[in-house]
Amino acid sequence: MVAPNIATYDIATVKAVLDHGKKGAIGVMPAFDRLNEKQKEAVGAYISSISK
Ligand code: HEM
Repeated sequence: MVAPNIATYDIATVKAVLDHGKKGAIGVMPAFDRLNEKQKEAVGAYISSISK
């Protein structure tokens, strides 16, 4: 099993997963309700920044 390379994902995709969680092949990604909208965008911006 290989995890997806989320560094290739854009801000909106990462934010959507943090908003809603996601059920994947290896398990369930929890939603991050403790983060507000700006914080989830910031995490998305960081994740997409490391691939470029
Ligand atoms: C801020 C930290 C995190 C970010 C940005 C993040 C982001 C993501 C993203 C974007 C996906 C979707 C991948 C895809 O399906 O293409 C994902 C999947 C997943 N995440 Fe996270 N995640 C984080 C923390 C965590 C934590 C703490 C856990 C465990 C408690 C977790 C467990 C999972 C699991 C099990 C999947 C499904 C993988 C699969 O089977 O395809 N994640 N995550």
